[in-house]
Parts: sequence; C-alpha cells; structure tokens
Amino acid sequence: MTDKLIIFDTTLRDGEQSPGASMTKDEKLRIARQLERLRVDVIEAGFAASSNGDFEAVQMIANAIKDSTICSLSRANDRDIARAAEALKGAASARIHTFIATSALHMEKKLRMTPDQVFEQAKQAVRFARNLVGDIEFSPEDGYRSDVDFLCRVLEGVIAEGATTINVPDTVGYAVPELYGNFIRTLRERIPNSDKAVWSVHCHNDLGMAVANSLAGVKIGGARQIECTINGLGERAGNCSLEEVVMAVRTRRDYFGLELGIDTQHIVAASRMVSQTTGFVVQPNKAVVGANAFAHASGIHQDGVLKARDTYEIMRAEDVGWTANKIVLGKLSGRNAFKQRLQDLGAQLESEAEINTAFAKFKELADRKSEIFDEDILALVSDESVTSEKEQYGFVSLAQHSETGERPQATVVFTVDGKEVRSASEGNGPVDASLKAIESHVKSGAEMVLYSVNAISGSTESQGEVTVRLQNSGRVVNGVGADPDIIVASAKAYLSALNKLHSKADRVAAQG
Ligand code: KIV
Ligand code: ZN
Repeated sequence: MTDKLIIFDTTLRDGEQSPGASMTKDEKLRIARQLERLRVDVIEAGFAASSNGDFEAVQMIANAIKDSTICSLSRANDRDIARAAEALKGAASARIHTFIATSALHMEKKLRMTPDQVFEQAKQAVRFARNLVGDIEFSPEDGYRSDVDFLCRVLEGVIAEGATTINVPDTVGYAVPELYGNFIRTLRERIPNSDKAVWSVHCHNDLGMAVANSLAGVKIGGARQIECTINGLGERAGNCSLEEVVMAVRTRRDYFGLELGIDTQHIVAASRMVSQTTGFVVQPNKAVVGANAFAHASGIHQDGVLKARDTYEIMRAEDVGWTANKIVLGKLSGRNAFKQRLQDLGAQLESEAEINTAFAKFKELADRKSEIFDEDILALVSDESVTSEKEQYGFVSLAQHSETGERPQATVVFTVDGKEVRSASEGNGPVDASLKAIESHVKSGAEMVLYSVNAISGSTESQGEVTVRLQNSGRVVNGVGADPDIIVASAKAYLSALNKLHSKADRVAAQG
C-alpha cells in the first residue's frame, strides 16, 4: 500500500452529466488545462462513445495534456472500449474506465441480465481493454448496493483479467461513512488478488456525505484514489468535491498521513472557471471556495484573526488561490503586463491572436471602468468571442429605454454569420425587451430555464456576469456574458447560449 493519494477528477464526465452543465469542446479543454495546472493525477475527459462531440473532446484533451493521465469512460462492451482507445491515442498516459452495474436492482431492471452474464461481460470487457491500453479501471456501477459475495466474485475476476484500478461507486449516494469505509475494507480483505489493484472511491452526495464517505473509504477502507469534481459538480446533489477532500487530506495530514500531488494554489481559479462555464453558482458558505469561506464578519473573530490568524483559521486563503480584491491593471497597462497577469492567474490563452483579442477587449473595458480586478480579467478570457474561432451570432450594440410607468423598449444590433441585423422589441423590463428583440429575429423557440446575474467583484461599479440557460429539443446549454452594463451582459449571454444551441452536437445518456 502506498501513501500517495491519487486524485481522479471527473468534472468533465460525471460533472458534465448534471442537467444544464454541458460544456463545449473548447470549454472542456480550458478546464482540462486548469486541472493539469492543479496537478490532478487523472482527468476523466468524457465518455468517448457517447457522442461525436464527446469523442472529439476526449481526443483534443488527450493530445493537449501531458502531465495528467487522461481517461475515457466506456460501457463494458467492445465498441465503446475501442472508441475510448481510439480517442485516447494521442495521450502521454491513457486510461480506460469501463463499468457495468452489479446491484440486483440494476442488473434485473436496467440491464435485464443475469449475474452470470454480468460477470462474464465484465471480465470480457477488461480483457478486451487490456489489449489496447495498459491502465484499466473497472467500476461496478451501484457497487455499494451490490451483494458483497457477488461483488467479490466480479472484482476478483476483473483483477485477474488485468484491471489496475478498482473503483467502488456509491452511485446513488446511499452510503454513510463508517459503513462505506468498512465495505471497502471487506472487499480488499476478502478478494485474494486485491493487492494487484489500486482501490478507488466514487461517492455521490445525495445525503450530503460524499466527501465524508470518500475520506472513510480512504481511512478505514485503505483506498488510494478518490474520484471527485470541482465544486462537487454532478448529477442530482453532485459528486465528492475536489477542493474539500484535497484540503481535508492536506490540512489533517496528521490524521490521514497521505501525500498529494495537487498544487492547491490553483483551486479557486478552477472553481471559478467551472462555475462560470456551467452557470452553477458556488454558494457563499461553501467550504474552501465559497466567497465567505475565509471571511470573518463577527467582531470577536476579526479581533482574534488580527492577533493570531490561527485562532480562527485552519487553512490560509492564499494556499488555495484567494487573492485580495485588488486593482491589478489599468488603462495605461501594456500588453506585456496584461499577458503576465494572465499567466499569474493561470489563464493562459492558446495563441497570440487570442491574446491580442483579449488585450483589445481589456483596453475597451479599461476605458469604461477605472479599476480592473483579477475577476474582470478572468471574465474576459472566458468570453467566447476571445477564444472561439467563428461564432454564428455576435453582439454589436444595444440601445434601450425604460422609465417608470412606461413599457421598456430595446433595440439590439448583432451579427448573424458576419452580417449585421437590427431588431427591436418591448418587454417587462429592459433585459426582457433586449432578449425578446434578439429572439424575435432568431426564432430559436428555446425555453429559458435559468437567468442569473452576479456582480463579478462585488460592487455596483463591477462588471455584471450573466448566465442564461436555454433548453430546446432535449438540449440544455449555458451562455455567459460579462459587461459593466448588465443589459449588455444579458444580451451577450443570450447570444452565447444561442451559439451553443446551434452548434452541431449529438449526445446520448452516459449511463447505459
Ligand atoms: O456513479 C457511478 O456509478 C458512475 C460510474 C459510471 C463510475 O459514475
Ligand atoms: Zn458517478
């Protein structure tokens, strides 16, 4: 047993399965780069066989990321596994993660297979995968609710076929820490070849115990890999949150006694990036990455922290990447200073052309806003007009009129495939009028399922960051826009969502 704890991030796969959290290929690559900066050991980049879009995303990430192992999920069948191996061809280090359900409920009701058929299929899948890639992870889906004797039989069989990691999912978030920890320990003790594989935990958060269960799997069960996501993103109540387990293991090294490879200073930037990309806002009191996680509001706490910070602080804010809201650049800052700041924030852009576009946007913003904060710069680089090649819709300008007692009106000028159009509408408020103006020309027919505004740096002088989530024909997409004028930010967010809605992508459900 080693004392290194492997951090396996599945934000781009299990996290993305959360309704409304779907990401474009470019967004996934940007997040993968941030995960590499964080020095995550394994990045589960997607489920290559689920769609062409997922295949391309896994392939793109496998070709670009060199310091983390890149993994693709795959059902336990030859077609899925071959597709995963194909997508991972360019990876410096590749892993195939294959799964099949083993609980009586899933086998009977979902798979309509007998336990013997599942046993054979699991072994066959690992055997097939092992001929394509050396690093194979196997997951018995709904493992925690599976019969322990049957599970031992399956896991012994797949280890004998060459599985190098055994992951035990609590797929529905049913476990409690002590029982889950004991479950992993029992499996490891009872399976004769258990020492040939690394044991991994994968906990969902339905009862709010995903982090506690994962840590018990490590401490009591002896697991040495934790599967987790940034901000705990994931289906239903989400997955085990990366920032929380990592900081727990690091802060309580005295208890866990484990080594981590994670560079924690990139945690906050990763959290912001995932939140901005998906529109899933981080609650202010969320551990480690919430806006209040290190804020001391009460007089007694403030007094204590000023006298000796460890009176009320068990971690240092700067160790996870919090920076004070400070003015970092201004109107007169040059391109080199801007580029340097991007690098310091871990927000490198792909090409000089992208840096030039971002710098031009920065200058425009600095003309309108005297103080530019790190948050403004991060919002600039996540603006898709900086990072995307050619979008169908682009914002040009907006005029609106609203007055108490009058119905607001807006006229929006935007481009459609490079051609300018002008469209006007009334609405309940200026935002509603602006979005209706766009919609009356585009006629997407999409339903808006989320609209949210957030002040990027916390004051009325800050940029407003707007997230719009649209749903159409079963597809759900997020658009994000930032501007000091929240009506403009809303129009940008709406156009960004339309771009994603109209981009070609086909998806199938990840869990088969
Ligand atoms: O929760 C789960 O069971 C999964 C498996 C596919 C690993 O995500
Ligand atoms: Zn899962």
